[in-house]
Formats: sequence, C-alpha cells, structure tokens
Amino acid sequence: MGKKWRAAILASGSGSNFEAIVNATRRGEVPIEITKLVYNKEEANVKKRAARLDIHALYISHLNFPTREAFDLKLVSELKKDNVELVILAGWMRLFSASFLDHFPNTLNIHPSLLPHFRGLHAIERAYSAGVLQTGCTVHRVVVDMDSGPLVAQSFVRAEGLSLGSLRAKIQEAEHSLYPKAISFFIRNQEK
Ligand code: GRF
Repeated sequence: MGKKWRAAILASGSGSNFEAIVNATRRGEVPIEITKLVYNKEEANVKKRAARLDIHALYISHLNFPTREAFDLKLVSELKKDNVELVILAGWMRLFSASFLDHFPNTLNIHPSLLPHFRGLHAIERAYSAGVLQTGCTVHRVVVDMDSGPLVAQSFVRAEGLSLGSLRAKIQEAEHSLYPKAISFFIRNQEK
C-alpha cells in the first residue's frame, strides 16, 4: 500500500457508515488516516460511536453561522489545520457551496439509491413505492448540486419481494461493504 491519505469524515446521523469505514481502515483495507469526525447536530449518535472508537470528534453547528458560505469556510479552516486531502461524507445532511469544494475537490458521498435515480431525501422509500425490482447504493464525488457528481462505485440490491424494512437493512449492509472499497478505488485512481 502507498501513502495514506489524510481524511476527515463528516456525519450528521447514526454513524453506521462512519463506523464501517473506521473498522475497515483499522483492518488495513483503506489507505487513509482518519484525522477527525466533524458532526453538525449535537444529538447525533455518531458522536457516541466516535468516542467508543477513540476518534477525535469536533462539533460545529451550522446554526451558529449566518450563511452557508460562512459555515463552509469554518469547516475549511478546521480541515486545513489537519492537512486533509480527502473528505468523506457519511450521512452529512447538508449541501456544500463552491467555497468548500474549491478547497476540497476530493469529497465523496454515499447515497442509498442507484444514482442518477432517486436523488434527495427518502430515496429508499421512493424506490420501494415505485416498485423497482432492483435498487442499491452509490458512492460519488460531491459537486454543488445535490447527489449529482461523477459516480465512483455502485452496489446493486434486489428489491423484489422484500418488505421496506428488509430493503433498508440490505441497502445499509451494502453501503457498509461498498463505501470502504469505493474510497480505496478512488484513491488508487487518483494516484495513477
Ligand atoms: C446512509 O443511508 C447514506 O446513504 C445517507 O445517509 C445514511 C447515513 O446512515 N447519505 P448512517 O448515519 O451512516 O448510519
């Protein structure tokens, strides 16, 4: 394995993808060094996972900033302190302005559908209601528009015959397996 990229993880929710990435990294499967977790919702369960996994966690509430740019520039300054090279969004429920992405073009996100289908919120529920036979999850580069950047990797999940709950569980399982692999794949391609 070549050099390790310095990576920050940004999350707002339960943190199951965060934990999967930390565990895969510790097993030596992902060539990153995780600098810190940043979370923007005080009650986010991800902070408990960070404490248990001994990852430094920084809370920054977007509510304390007058504009999207002001919050994004605060994030930029915090990540620059750690010389971050890769930003990993794992359930980060906010869009970025160009002021963030100009500094961190290597920003990845995971979305619970086969993009470009079912962008936005409630993607699993909408795919289920549409009666798709197959759905899944996608890792993509982040651009200013929501769930729209170039695709990095996808994992397919057969939906036929599943309840909504089982479909959710299968997509979550697929995400935990896909995201660490997609990060490694992305890094290898950048190094070529
Ligand atoms: C995942 O379904 C991911 O696709 C979406 O947000 C969810 C985060 O779940 N972007 P968790 O917090 O990692 O458990």
